[in-house]
Amino acid sequence: MARALKYRRSIEGEIRVRRADGKFRGDSSAARRCRIKKETIAKWRGMLISKSASGEALLVVERRILEMVARGDSLAEILDSLCRFVEGQASGVLASISPLDGDRLWYGAAPSLPKAYTDAINGMAIGPSAGSCGTAAYRGEPVIVEDIASDPLWSAYCDLALSHSLRACWSTPVSPQGKVIATFAMYYREPRRPTTRDREMIEQITNLAGVAIQRKLAQEKLQRSEAYLAEAQKLTHTGSWAWDARKQRVLYCSDEMFRIFGLDPLESLPTRKNFRQRVHPEDRDWVDKRFDRSLREKVDSFDEYRVLLPDGTVKHINSSGHPILDEDGGLVEFIATAVDVTERKRGELERQRLASLVEQAAELMAIADLSGGTPIYLNKAGMKMVGFDSREQARARRGIHYIFPEDRQFVNEVLWPTVLEKGSWSGEMRLRHFKTGDPIPVLYSSFRIDDPETGQPVNVGNVCSDITKLKRAEVEAREKDRRYSEMQMELAHANRVATMGQLTASIAHEVIQPIAATVTNAETALSWLRLGSSHLEEVQQALTSIVEDGIRAAEVVKGIRALMKKAPPRKDRLEVNGVILEIIELARGEAVKHGVSILTELADPSPLVEADRVQLQQVLLNLIVNAIEAIGADNEGAKEVLISAGKVEPSGALVAVQDSGPGLDAVMLERVFESFYTTKPTGLGLGLSICRSIIEAHGGRLWASANQRRRGATFQFTLPCEANIPS
Ligand SMILES: Nc1ncnc2c1ncn2[C@@H]1O[C@H](COP(=O)(O)OP(=O)(O)O)[C@@H](O)[C@H]1O
Ligand SMILES: [Mg+2]
Repeated sequence: MARALKYRRSIEGEIRVRRADGKFRGDSSAARRCRIKKETIAKWRGMLISKSASGEALLVVERRILEMVARGDSLAEILDSLCRFVEGQASGVLASISPLDGDRLWYGAAPSLPKAYTDAINGMAIGPSAGSCGTAAYRGEPVIVEDIASDPLWSAYCDLALSHSLRACWSTPVSPQGKVIATFAMYYREPRRPTTRDREMIEQITNLAGVAIQRKLAQEKLQRSEAYLAEAQKLTHTGSWAWDARKQRVLYCSDEMFRIFGLDPLESLPTRKNFRQRVHPEDRDWVDKRFDRSLREKVDSFDEYRVLLPDGTVKHINSSGHPILDEDGGLVEFIATAVDVTERKRGELERQRLASLVEQAAELMAIADLSGGTPIYLNKAGMKMVGFDSREQARARRGIHYIFPEDRQFVNEVLWPTVLEKGSWSGEMRLRHFKTGDPIPVLYSSFRIDDPETGQPVNVGNVCSDITKLKRAEVEAREKDRRYSEMQMELAHANRVATMGQLTASIAHEVIQPIAATVTNAETALSWLRLGSSHLEEVQQALTSIVEDGIRAAEVVKGIRALMKKAPPRKDRLEVNGVILEIIELARGEAVKHGVSILTELADPSPLVEADRVQLQQVLLNLIVNAIEAIGADNEGAKEVLISAGKVEPSGALVAVQDSGPGLDAVMLERVFESFYTTKPTGLGLGLSICRSIIEAHGGRLWASANQRRRGATFQFTLPCEANIPS
């Protein structure tokens, strides 16, 4: 016994027990350590089996039953073999063992009872008169029924038993610790009462059944809890192990521990060297030293190190260890756990990486609470953008304070509700610089952050990129555009003045001619008047001519003034025909000078366009003057300029100026539109390029082509008809 205690082993052996009356009894004993706590054996469970009655046979069965338990045989097999032993010992007996669960008896073993009978009583409730077994379990004492046929305890089951020719049943409760856990019954096919030998046998078998059932239940419980523990270790990636400080070797190693360290659990317990080899080379030495220190100083240890598996996998381990001391403070065992935190670590790293990404981003990034949108986090770029020196400053401000005052109403009424209802909003916005109060134009994107589990909104995320530079560039670009179009206008005006300058002589002629006619008509009128009052009709005729010539001269001068004036462009609804005729009026003198006739082919009714009258006239004048000049420099064929206007779908009006001049070759067709391209000694080469930009600004197109059937070139342009021009 002392040895067993010392080495913590189970023992079996024969001992003699001295009874109260002083006599010895030779008994067999079996005992095992029940629980070890801090190396102290808490409890021994033993049994004494009376040897006197059963003799060798009983000893043999006892050993066999214990072996079966140890081997892990099922309870059914164990109880079955116990029953068979009983049946082998006495003739005519049919043995049965029924474990008790709650208040019902269940089939355990009954190798010789008819199956129909055992099926019928399986699960029967115990009670004050429930046959032998039910009553024995209920009372907690043996119930010996010598004749089932007459015993009132059997009244409910009598017919059943008799139909299977069962007449006697002696049942004894199996209650190893005072609590009934089963019943053991012996049936006979004729009425019978137990002998002393029977009673001894019953007592011994009941004891043995008690031990077997209890052990088996304990074993199952242990197995279950071990299985749960293993499962828990697997789930939490926690391995555990124990170090025998005295023998300097591993005492225990859980399956999960094997797995974490990539060791084979089928092999024997790992050695310290096995573990050491699996610790990452960079951590190996210090982990080793720490372990030695924990053993030496007998202190708890908490460490984090890495494991490197042969396939290169690196695992992060959180380990904690605890020394177990004996009464004298000597180290007995060191038990430790190792948790595989690789996954957690990876998540942590990921989070850290994300966090530093957010922290280092050039955009403002903030997470705000739902009430008032106050930032609970603001990154570095954000603090800089709005002029904060510390996070405390940032935290002291409500979300709306970040917004430029003029945009606050929009934020409250549109942006914020949109984010909460629809999930996000993005667009341009202005923040406010906290130090200068200046607006900060930003591209703002705000989104709701929902709890992934409940789906409820928890925060609002904000990302703002500063678009001050972009805005400045936009303003600059607009300014450039403005200056450019101003220059264009100046240039166009200069071109008009220059063209008009070219025409001065011809136009002067156009003006002088009606004035000369006026003078002639005035003289005629005077002559008629001098002849007396009877010639009033002639006077009236002359005066009418004067008025007409005056109006004509005034029209020409008005047209010239309009073209010479510098005025901002405007859009008017124009009849194309009218504009063409006005310009012909101005160019006629020049045409006559060069011996060129101007012909027209105008659609009726006139196409309508929305355009700037002066600019449209400038285009026509340039084209007509170019045509006249081209024909004038050429001495072949007819000298004609044909101006046509018509409607085209879908572009609107098409105006063409066709001449009978030398024409243009394929290369020249585009080159003539380049600025400063000219073939004329005094030309500027700006006319056509200005014409093109005017027409394109009106949404139209201007191009040149060689005439198909005759000499010369055609310059034509389209203008969208009025309906196509957005107002
Ligand atoms: N109807 C035409 N026929 C032939 N060549 C033309 C015609 N119109 C223009 N050109 C050519 O295109 C050139 C550019 O014309 P333009 O831009 O009006 O400038 P400029 O009249 O000052 O030369 C002219 O110099 C001429 O060579
Ligand atoms: Mg020109």
